[in-house]
Amino acid sequence: MSYKFVRVAQVLLFISLAYTSNAQAPKGPSANAKIDALIKKMTLEEKVTMIHASSSFTSGGVPRLGIPELVTSDGPHAVRAEHGRDWELDKNVYDSGTYLPVGTCLAATWNTKLGYDFGSVLGSEANFRGKDVILGPGINIIRSPLNGRNFEYQSEDPYLVSRMVVGYIKGVQDQGISACVKHYAANNLEKNRNTVDVNMSERALREIYLPGFKAAVTEAGVNTLMGSYNKFRGQWATQNHYLMNQVLKKEWGFKGLVMSDWGAVHNTMEALWNGCDIEMGTDLSMLPKPNYGKFFMGDTVLQLVRSGRLDESIINEKVRRILYVMYKTNMIDGQRKKGAYNTKAHQQTALKVAEEGIVLLKNDNKLLPLSSTVKSIAVIGYNAERKQGMGGGSSQAKAFYEVTPLEGIKYVGGNKVNITYSPGYKIERGATADRSMIRQAVEAASKADVAVIVGGWTHGYNYSVWSDNAYDAEDVDKPNMTMPFGQDELITAVLKANPKTVVVLMGGGPIDMTQWVNNTPAILQAWYPGMEGGNALARILFGQVNPSGKLPMTFMKTLADAPSEKIGITTKDTQRLYYTDDIYVGYRYFDTYKVEPQFAFGHGLSYTTFDYSGLKVQGGKNKATVTFTVKNTGNVAGAEVAQVYVNQPKSTLPRPEKELKAFEKVMLQPGQQKTVTLTLNEDAFQYYNDGLNKWVLEPGAFNIMIGGSSRAIKLNGKVTLK
Ligand code: GLC
Repeated sequence: MSYKFVRVAQVLLFISLAYTSNAQAPKGPSANAKIDALIKKMTLEEKVTMIHASSSFTSGGVPRLGIPELVTSDGPHAVRAEHGRDWELDKNVYDSGTYLPVGTCLAATWNTKLGYDFGSVLGSEANFRGKDVILGPGINIIRSPLNGRNFEYQSEDPYLVSRMVVGYIKGVQDQGISACVKHYAANNLEKNRNTVDVNMSERALREIYLPGFKAAVTEAGVNTLMGSYNKFRGQWATQNHYLMNQVLKKEWGFKGLVMSDWGAVHNTMEALWNGCDIEMGTDLSMLPKPNYGKFFMGDTVLQLVRSGRLDESIINEKVRRILYVMYKTNMIDGQRKKGAYNTKAHQQTALKVAEEGIVLLKNDNKLLPLSSTVKSIAVIGYNAERKQGMGGGSSQAKAFYEVTPLEGIKYVGGNKVNITYSPGYKIERGATADRSMIRQAVEAASKADVAVIVGGWTHGYNYSVWSDNAYDAEDVDKPNMTMPFGQDELITAVLKANPKTVVVLMGGGPIDMTQWVNNTPAILQAWYPGMEGGNALARILFGQVNPSGKLPMTFMKTLADAPSEKIGITTKDTQRLYYTDDIYVGYRYFDTYKVEPQFAFGHGLSYTTFDYSGLKVQGGKNKATVTFTVKNTGNVAGAEVAQVYVNQPKSTLPRPEKELKAFEKVMLQPGQQKTVTLTLNEDAFQYYNDGLNKWVLEPGAFNIMIGGSSRAIKLNGKVTLK
C-alpha cells in the first residue's frame, strides 16, 4: 500500500479519533471554542513545546498565550518533596507532607469511601504545593509475588481494583487536580521493565489487566494516563496503536492526555501516530543542562511538519487534549483551590486507612487484643524502629512525621506496660542470622508477658531513597519469597522462648512463613502503613481498634505455588514474557486448581464474629439481585467485608472456580444485623470470548457464593439466566 495512501488513512483515523472521542471540554462549547481559538493562535513551535517535557517533572507551556506548564508530582501515596520542575527541594513551603499508607494497604480496606478520602488528601496537598497532576494511582495487577512495586499497586483482582481506583481518582480530581492512572499496560514486573515484551491472550487482557484502567477512564473520568515502559505484543506500550488508539481513545472514548513513563518513548513516528500526547523523562532530561528539543517529540517534529511529511492535525490533537485537561482543572481560566498541607484531617485519613488496611491473619486463643493483664512486651525486629517513607523509588515520601511501630506501641501502651526493644536482625542484603542479636531478642522475650516481632520486607536500605538492593522498590523484583536477614531463625527462637508471640509483617505482599506459621498464635500484615502506621498497629494490638482489613491478594505458602511461576511460562528469552497463566491470576488459580494458600484472597479476621444468613437470589433477564443478612455475633463492634463471588459451571470457554463481582463493608455493633442487597449486572456474569472477540453472557445456571473471604463461603445460591 502506497505511503501516501497510508498517511491519508492515518490522518482520517486521527480526525475521526479527535471527534469520536469528542474531546469536549467539560464546560461545553465555551472551553472547546477557547481550545480551538488558542490552537489557531499557536505557532508550530509553541505546539511542539507542549508535547514534551520542559523539566524533569513539567511539560511545556506557552506564556505568550497564558498557557502554563503542566506540573506533575509523584506518587501514589504522597506529594513529593521536590518543588515540581526538577529535583531541588521546595524552598517556599516546608517540603515534607502527608505520607499515606501504600496502595496495597488502601486496597486492603475494601472501603471505597476511604479511597475517595485518600485521593482528596493528595489533591488538596498538590494544590497547596502548586502541582497540577498527581502521578497515581498505580494499579497494575499483582500477578507475581516477586514484583518489586506490588506495594504501590492494589490487588490481584480486577473488580477490587476497579472499585478502589474510582474512589481514589474522584477524590483527587474533585480537588481540581488531575490523577494519572498508571502504568498502562501489563507492567507487572520490574525486571527488564524497559525492554521486556509482554504477551497474553485477548481474554486475559480484557478480563484481568484492563478493567481497572477502563473503570478509571469510563467511570472516574481520569484526566491523564501514563503509558508503561514495557512492550506489549511487540510494540512499546506508550506508543502502542492497539492499546492507545484502538482501546483507550476509540473504544473507551478517553478525552484526556497520555503521558509517557519517564523515558518510555522510543521513536518519533510511533509516538506521534500511536497516541502518546506528552513525552516525559527521555534520558536527556537527566543531563545537567538537557536540551528538550532533542526529545523524540521535539525539533524533529518541526522538520516533519515543515517538510510535509507529517500533517499538523496530528500535533493539534495532542495539544487539544492537553488544553482539555488544563481547562478542566482551571489551569487557564477559573480559580484553583488553595489546598491544605499537613493538616490534622489529612493525618487522620492516613490513620484511618492504616487502621482499616492492616489485616489480622491469625489469632489463636484470642491472644489479641492484648489484655490488661499484659504488663510487659518485648518488641523485637528492626522494622519496628525503621522509617519506611523515603524508600521504594519514585513513590518515596518525605513524611512530615512517621510513627514507627515501636513508637506507636510505646505511645498507646503508655505507662500501663513495660516495653523493651531489641532489633533482632540487621538489614543487610544477604545477611544471615546474627547469633548475638537473636540471643538478645530471646532474652528479652523470655522476660516479657508477650513478644511482638515486627519484620517482613523492606524498602531501600539504610534509608536509601531509591531502590538499591531493596526488596519492595521500583526497578527491582524480589529474588524469592524467603524471609531475608535471618528472620526465620529469629522468629523460631523467640517462639520457643515465649509462645505468646505476635508476628507483624511489613511489606507489599506475601513472604514465605512456612517455617513458623503453625507455631505462631497471632500474625498481622501491616504493609507500609504510612505516617500514622505505628499508632494504627498499636491501637489494633491493644484493642482500641477492631481490625477489618482483608487481603487484596493471595498469600501463597511458597513461591513454587505461585501461578506466575508455575504456569506462567517465562521463556528462556527474558525479553519476552508470555502470560500463560492467562486469566488464572491469584485466587482464580488457587481455587480452580485446588492449591491451598497460606492465607486466601479476601481473608482477614476481626476481634468479633459475624454470621451470614437468609440469602435470596432474584434473577432477572440478564442480571440478579442478592439479599442476605450479616450479624455481629460477638461482643465488640466491628466491620465485615461481605464478598460476592460468581461461578458458571458450564460455559463454552472454561471459567475460574469463582470471580469476585460485588462486595460491601458493613459496620455492626455487637448483636446488630444488617440486610445487604447487591445488584449483579450483566457484566457480573459475562466473560470475554476471544474466539468471538467480544463479551458474552451465556445463558444457564450460575452459582452465587457469599462470605468473608474467597475461602470462607457462608451462603450458596443459584440463579439461572435466560
Ligand atoms: C518512574 C515510574 C513512574 C513515575 C515516573 C516519574 O520511572 O515508573 O511511576 O511516576 O517515573 O518519577
